[in-house]
Amino acid sequence: MKIFFILPIFCMGMTAVADPGEDDIIARIQKVGTVCIQGTDCAATEQTTTSADAADFDVVSSYEQSCATCHNLGVAGAPRFAEPSEWEPRISKGMEALYNSAINGLLPTMPARGMCFNCSDDDIRALTDYMVDAAR
Ligand code: HEC
Repeated sequence: MKIFFILPIFCMGMTAVADPGEDDIIARIQKVGTVCIQGTDCAATEQTTTSADAADFDVVSSYEQSCATCHNLGVAGAPRFAEPSEWEPRISKGMEALYNSAINGLLPTMPARGMCFNCSDDDIRALTDYMVDAAR
């Protein structure tokens, strides 16, 4: 008859071994990676999402989406795409000045970031390079 008492105890022992327990699960999940918020100390050393996004950034389609509306037709005196005579006086101000106007806007007519609200500063610089290169 003793076997009927030992068997359930043996089975409970097996489940305890098979169940990894909550702490083990948490430890295992954490091995995948840790979250690093931009602007915190860890962001300086780890790859941030911004640099990954920058690689994915499509200059041509972003230009078409955000800048072409004004810069293809010259709306409100916007220098037109691939029109060197309209870009030359602006290019002579230097690229930093152009980046600055593109990022912060040139009031009243050139809106900050050319209304591309999901563009990073680097994206706006890339778009400005693209427009300037086309006008050279
Ligand atoms: C709502 C219309 C509009 C949109 C959208 C727009 N621009 Fe402009 N942009 C202008 C106008 C107008 C000017 C000329 C402003 C002036 O000289 O006062 C200008 C000027 C510029 C200049 C020259 C600035 C300088 O210092 O001479 C750059 C560079 C520029 N835009 C970049 C961009 C980029 C990049 C985008 C898209 C992300 C964009 N713009 C979207 C209207 C627009």
